[in-house]
Amino acid sequence: MPTEFWRVPEKGWRVKAGIRRETLDGERRVAATPETVKQLVGLGLDVEVESGAGLASGHSDPDYVAAGASVVNSLALGALDVYCHVRPLEPSTAGALQRGSVTIGLGSPSSELPTVRALAVGGITSFALELVPRISRAQSMDALTSQALVAGYRCVLEAAMRLPRFFPLYMTAAGTIPPARVLVLGAGVAGLQAIGTAKRLGARVSANDIRPASADEVASMGGTFIKLDLETAEASGGYARELSADRGALQRALLAPHVAQADVLITTAAVPGRRAPLLVTREMVQGMRPGSVVVDLAAESGGNVEGSIPGQDIPIPTGDGQGTVTLVGIKDAASAMPADASRLFAKNVANLLALMTRDGAVSPDFSDEVLAGTCLTHDGQVRHAPTAEALAALAALGGENAPVASGSAGGPQPGAPPPGCPASGSEGVR
Ligand SMILES: NC(=O)c1ccc[n+]([C@@H]2O[C@H](COP(=O)([O-])OP(=O)(O)OC[C@H]3O[C@@H](n4cnc5c(N)ncnc54)[C@H](O)[C@@H]3O)[C@@H](O)[C@H]2O)c1
Repeated sequence: MPTEFWRVPEKGWRVKAGIRRETLDGERRVAATPETVKQLVGLGLDVEVESGAGLASGHSDPDYVAAGASVVNSLALGALDVYCHVRPLEPSTAGALQRGSVTIGLGSPSSELPTVRALAVGGITSFALELVPRISRAQSMDALTSQALVAGYRCVLEAAMRLPRFFPLYMTAAGTIPPARVLVLGAGVAGLQAIGTAKRLGARVSANDIRPASADEVASMGGTFIKLDLETAEASGGYARELSADRGALQRALLAPHVAQADVLITTAAVPGRRAPLLVTREMVQGMRPGSVVVDLAAESGGNVEGSIPGQDIPIPTGDGQGTVTLVGIKDAASAMPADASRLFAKNVANLLALMTRDGAVSPDFSDEVLAGTCLTHDGQVRHAPTAEALAALAALGGENAPVASGSAGGPQPGAPPPGCPASGSEGVR
């Protein structure tokens, strides 16, 4: 019997979608807002929301009821056909879902292998939003982009609040205040948003990235591109390629004088599937002026700045002994702005669910490249080849009891770069 059987409504029976109340400490987002509940109800689904799920992002239980959902104290996982979440599931949660049900949310497959295994063993059709292909048609489902936008904006505000001076130029009767100099390293979605936000605050902004297209992208946001005497490094799909150790060292040496000139340094660099590249050493931070601020948006995935710790501000004594630089390790950047982060995230989830729903039936068509690319597990198989390889390697090391079948139909092939496969449990900037 096909697993889709569970999700095809029979007479008088409707597919039931559950919205979880996030359990991870500090997570304030929710996978559905009242607006997207209306969208899901319009698709012919019954929606159940766990009580309090939307409170931190500004949505009360009555808001969800008014949108057409039922609110329950605790979701009966075994009775759901679709389960929507923000953070990756725990293995026990995956194990409690019914065979053939669908999950949609962040999966962080490279760092959550026990959950991937539980999803596969349980016969769950799971969709990991990090795997949404970066193509135009999938933009409305691309949670990495939507959350990176929030993170890029947020990290500029974090810097501005800590900087002991203005961002904009002020010409006053009491004298002229020059604009702050902001340097952004890594000009992907988050970096470009950081450039735009810092520009809107009036700062003088420069930026660097190693992708060839980045110079034009930085200019389009109003930033000045810093061209280094270093070749560009691009992998397939428009992503950056990891620099060799000596190229990385050269990049740091070339960046050092620019870092020393900046009042604010914001780092957002990432290479999919790898630890974040080290762009700034402690010595480079010590070369900045006292009072300067460094915000490392990649702190959760290894850090672009030596010594950054997620969730901590660290005072670094300057080389001249005259003060300190504040090194800010960003943690949960998108979750820190739960209302708009949830608004976008919930839309991404609802749009992906809509893509696999017809006449009230949820039945993913894997000839669709968006659904095929985003699917992590289906019918007992791990479809994302790099994750299947990682699980097999773990099993070979004796880290797991039994191998899980892999099926790469529609997913990336073994050996392919793992787009959207973050190096850590963080998202937004990978
Ligand atoms: N739907 C779409 O078409 C779509 C959506 C989003 C992003 N994209 C594209 O995908 C690509 C990746 O975007 P992202 O935000 O996910 O990137 P990302 O989070 O993987 O990386 C952030 C940035 O860090 C840069 N970087 C990596 N190593 C670096 C180094 N050593 N020094 C300086 N910078 C370094 C990368 O080039 C990238 O711009 C971009 O080309 C972006 O335009 C396309």
